[in-house]
Amino acid sequence: MYDKSKFTVKAEPVMLGIESSCDETACAILRGRKIIANRIISSAAEQAKYGGVVPEIASRMHTEAVDEVVRQALEDANLQPSDIDCVAATYGAGLLGALLVGLSFAKAFAFSLNVPFIAVNHIRGHIAAAYLDKPDLKPPFITLLASGGHTAILYTRSFTQFSVLASTSDDAAGEAFDKCARVLGLPYPGGPSVQKLAESGKPSVNLPSALVKNSTQLRFSYSGLKTAVINAVHNAEQRGEQINFADVAASFQRAAVDPLVKKTVELAKKYGVKTVTAGGGVIANGYLRQSLTEACQKAGLELVLPAKKYCTDNAAMIASEGLNQYMAGNFSDLDVNAAAAIPLQQD
Ligand code: KG4
Ligand code: ZN
Repeated sequence: MYDKSKFTVKAEPVMLGIESSCDETACAILRGRKIIANRIISSAAEQAKYGGVVPEIASRMHTEAVDEVVRQALEDANLQPSDIDCVAATYGAGLLGALLVGLSFAKAFAFSLNVPFIAVNHIRGHIAAAYLDKPDLKPPFITLLASGGHTAILYTRSFTQFSVLASTSDDAAGEAFDKCARVLGLPYPGGPSVQKLAESGKPSVNLPSALVKNSTQLRFSYSGLKTAVINAVHNAEQRGEQINFADVAASFQRAAVDPLVKKTVELAKKYGVKTVTAGGGVIANGYLRQSLTEACQKAGLELVLPAKKYCTDNAAMIASEGLNQYMAGNFSDLDVNAAAAIPLQQD
């Protein structure tokens, strides 16, 4: 019988993490914070044929890959299943069918090994990627979170607590990158395509900033920026004018990224923290990484910037957040269900 009250906390557990919220089936193993295996089987190439993620294809491919990706990770780490001390898996947010594959596998695995299971909020996983980069990192710190589903600046108070200081009122930054890519006829996934094109362009097209002005709260908005990109391209087409797509990409990138960097540094100063961290797929963006590095240097702030492969979806970050919850003794029951959406502040 699985009884979460019977488990004890080890000082340096072997944590197996599983991620399957979108189009990557991933498994990683940590010993303490040290990554000893990190595998991803991605269906992105298959999804690219359809211009985006098709949920049914994602679920099917997770079903085909989950067994294999866990086997590969155990082999890389040179471990047997019986060496695992805890199993963590993403329970949300994401595509329901996709989540259920990794979550069900993880629950069954933990049950069979009689070890604790931890259900992880994907967004908390993105925040926890910073501990992989700097294992002795300790809160408090300010986190810039920018992914396909969320854009926010957070105050991370402890290993298990954070509050939201600023967020988007509509689309997420990653979503805007993906939509901008589509308007410019670039392939999926949109973020890396826009970044590549922007490298050969000048930020000369006038676009609105993603920062909402005249608001009592600090807020971002990406739907206005997205519409402005669509209008700039369509208006030029209608007038029979040439518009340089590389310039549009560079202008969009700047309008999307600059306010995030500026406000992150301002909030770090306001809250008196010495450290800034970042997480989420958009943090893999080269322009953002450079701007944030420069801005933090200038402000005398330490920046913990996870490697790009730990910014986009991966299982090491899920295991890292699993470790935060494990150390706090927050083990999950086995009846946890998958959740398509989880409000940023609640889980
Ligand atoms: O965190 P993530 O892998 O998945 C979610 O949790 O949403 O983020 C995916 C998002 C996509 O919108 C993708 O276009 C964006 O991250 N992204 C990028 C880059 N790489 C991925 N955006 C801008 N520049 C990039 N290099
Ligand atoms: Zn993600």
